[in-house]
Amino acid sequence: MTDSDLTPHSEDEDGDLLVDVRGLMVHFPIKSGLLFDRTLGFVYAVDGVDLQIKKGETYGLVGESGCGKSTLGRALLQLEEPTAGEVYFDGIDLAGLEGEGLRRQRRHMQMIFQDPLGSLDPRQTVEQLLLEGMRAHGLTKGRDARGRLIELLAAVGLPAHAMSKYPHEFSGGQRQRVGIARALSVDPQLIVADEPVSALDVSVQAQVINLLEDLQDEFDLTFLVIAHDLAVVRHISDRVGVMYLGGLVEEADAHDLYAAPLHPYTRALMSAVPVPDPQVEDERDQILLVGDLPSPANPPAGCRFHTRCPWKQETKCEEERPELRTLEVDGIPETHRVACHWAEQILSGDLQPHEVEVENTEPVLVDLDLPEEQQPSPRL
Ligand SMILES: Nc1ncnc2c1ncn2[C@@H]1O[C@H](COP(=O)(O)OP(=O)(O)O)[C@@H](O)[C@H]1O
Ligand code: SF4
Ligand SMILES: [Mg+2]
Repeated sequence: MTDSDLTPHSEDEDGDLLVDVRGLMVHFPIKSGLLFDRTLGFVYAVDGVDLQIKKGETYGLVGESGCGKSTLGRALLQLEEPTAGEVYFDGIDLAGLEGEGLRRQRRHMQMIFQDPLGSLDPRQTVEQLLLEGMRAHGLTKGRDARGRLIELLAAVGLPAHAMSKYPHEFSGGQRQRVGIARALSVDPQLIVADEPVSALDVSVQAQVINLLEDLQDEFDLTFLVIAHDLAVVRHISDRVGVMYLGGLVEEADAHDLYAAPLHPYTRALMSAVPVPDPQVEDERDQILLVGDLPSPANPPAGCRFHTRCPWKQETKCEEERPELRTLEVDGIPETHRVACHWAEQILSGDLQPHEVEVENTEPVLVDLDLPEEQQPSPRL
């Protein structure tokens, strides 16, 4: 399937899409330190992403740190201006909104952050924190606001007396519960949870994940859960997308992805997660990723994973950027898409992994405003 085969938003006949992202790009200009009007290049943080999330669904987005997950989440909420592409929310083109229209729409899209302490104003009590958003959207008028706060706190597992406390008086897990209550306070439809448990103790992580799952049913929510760790999104996600250097390399129903990862990068990520069964642990492939994530300011040509891919072939991999596509292979459903030229041959075992030489992927910066002979030497 190519991108153009995907149903455009206007043909979302069942009206079951809440988020519809098309060809999204977010490129950050790299400015020269001496002359700020000089653009030396771009960080291709998000570089051509199509992503659909259905109402009531949980979409898990995973990938190494720096691959563009947060930027994608922020661009989706219009907290970052897209360089190109469209974001439709419940059929509405968000780029066409500004000022009051955008502010009203934002109420329906809330974000939960990795570091709840950093995202909660330390000088405000929980009551003030929760009321702030509700007031801004006129949700306290004609309503028993205090009763609503008690309900919200109960929903996230905090006692009513938490209301008069300040963020620093809570443990990390409790603080994340306050952050979740604050997101919920404005009755959103979508919650983007960006690494919601990464800063928490392992023992607390599962509690917060379970809480998100319970709240989804109770409040009819749609989730985009972002994590650098496949294990975190495994149980909560209906579908999972794997991101590498600004693009999606694989997307599938969670069960299908974990049962049969198709992309070499996903296989490598998966092989890094320990399996509790020692026999399975001994028998399964261990694929070690060599080399660092290349700089998104100078992404490799062709398949962006080719500098680290144990299956890289002489042809295509370095020249053509593979699109997300379905495989016509028995047992692989249409919902499972992968961006690899050789996915069929890798799956069948016709292609076997080989050693990977670490390539130097230092970013080379080009001053777009200068002729070639006056280009500055590479630096970052
Ligand atoms: N405001 C910004 N200006 C310039 N570069 C940025 C900005 N925000 C993020 N980046 C860069 O974009 C890339 C993707 O970042 P991010 O979306 O935070 O990745 P992730 O959330 O997957 O760790 C990184 O190289 C990061 O340094
Ligand atoms: S296209 Fe080539 S380099 Fe990219 S993942 Fe597939 S085999 Fe590896
Ligand atoms: Mg991030």
